[in-house]
Amino acid sequence: MAGYVVVGTQWGDEGKGKVVDLLGTHVNMVVRYQGGNNAGHTVVVNGKKTVLHLLPSGILNHDALCVIGPGVVVNPFVLFKEIDTLEAQGVKCDHVRISDRAHILMPYHVRLDELEEQRASKYRVGTTKNGIGPCYADKYSRIGLRMCDLKDWDVFLDKLKDTLEIKNAEITKVFGGEPFDYDELVKEFEPIRERISPMLCDATDLVNKALADNKVVLFEGAQANMLDINYGTYPFVTSSSPTAAGVLEGVGVGPKALDHIIGIVKAYSTRVGEGPFVTELLDDTGKLLREKGAEYGATTGRPRRVGWLDLPVVRQGVRINGLTELAITKIDILSGFDKLPVCIGYDIDGKVYDTVPASLEVYGRAKPVYKVFDGWKEDISHVTRFEDLPENCQKYVRFIEEYCGTKIALVSVNPEREGNIILSKLI
Ligand code: GDP
Ligand code: IMO
Ligand code: MG
Repeated sequence: MAGYVVVGTQWGDEGKGKVVDLLGTHVNMVVRYQGGNNAGHTVVVNGKKTVLHLLPSGILNHDALCVIGPGVVVNPFVLFKEIDTLEAQGVKCDHVRISDRAHILMPYHVRLDELEEQRASKYRVGTTKNGIGPCYADKYSRIGLRMCDLKDWDVFLDKLKDTLEIKNAEITKVFGGEPFDYDELVKEFEPIRERISPMLCDATDLVNKALADNKVVLFEGAQANMLDINYGTYPFVTSSSPTAAGVLEGVGVGPKALDHIIGIVKAYSTRVGEGPFVTELLDDTGKLLREKGAEYGATTGRPRRVGWLDLPVVRQGVRINGLTELAITKIDILSGFDKLPVCIGYDIDGKVYDTVPASLEVYGRAKPVYKVFDGWKEDISHVTRFEDLPENCQKYVRFIEEYCGTKIALVSVNPEREGNIILSKLI
């Protein structure tokens, strides 16, 4: 078996898309296993930038089958918009397959997400408003619609009628919003059904057969451990498991399918949406880091919150994913800072911890304990060998490796597919 997983180790936007695109040129299959179009994964090839939301980031390599797995929630309108945009640019998308078990993200999920986000509550999550939470909630309440239902139109119509009653009651009675009209929804789904049906398959069978045939399969995580429904800063999280464990349940493969579990670490921290962020920089240094790193959301365009590297967070990612390698990204953005503080623990009420507490009330009181590194001035965005990095930069990178106890396989120095220092070949 040759299964590779790429996961985020912070709050998302670490550069997973870039690494998946790079590795994707050497694999037979790229598989998304959780989340939906809340993801925004950027790939840059020969100066051309592509942002992917639902399609796997291997899409530019036509030789690799691109699979949307059972654990993903799929908004078909967004999916086809993404496919149409790419095809208009000459990127063929006939190698996309969708699991017939995947849940359909319906227009009422988007409406409910928007309505929930309009509440004036201190527990407002700051979601991407793409309907992700409401869709997973319906899945676990067992009133969701699945892709396989589209193949049997009468089943789809029947289930939609039943579910819509509940959803409309929630929209109108809880939030005072506008209900959905059943007939209009049906009309919108008629062309979707026709177009999506040939793309549907038993993705679990497809992936397991590929693994059994010794094909190389790359699983692409969206979001990251700090947004994980179980281990993130609940309730300021997403509604799925972006970890390696998410692959097992989100695709239907066994734990032995995963040979390499690669964690992507941005050289500093960013977060979009609400929730605690111990190393957040709210001053001019933060503004500078945001501008240098172009830290604006790939999905919503929101300015990302920025801060210094938080290693207890990354190490939590190492542990809950069982990471075998790390890939460091955006180290080039740190050139020019005199000092680079790295958080190695949390001071909570006078005691130092190096793990993330469950309670946000406790985590909210955490003060970062920093180890301060000297910076470097050189532009490193075209360096190709580790030994050619400034000494202080090498020290910074090696400290991450040491703290996490996990080897670094790749250091990315610019957004381009080829803009990397390879320390150990992954595929
Ligand atoms: P993802 O969600 O984890 O795939 O990450 P995003 O695509 O949302 O955000 C990462 C951003 O950083 C994108 O704009 C990438 O093009 C960019 N990027 C990735 N690696 C590097 C790097 O090493 N240096 C620089 N300067 N930009 C990078
Ligand atoms: P990628 O895959 C960064 C955040 C949202 C919000 C919380 C819940 O590009 O790394 P949701 O819409 O999922 O219900 O929002 O999670 N969030 C992300 N932040 N990168 C992402 O994806 C994210 N996907 C969701 O901002 O705080
Ligand atoms: Mg992103």
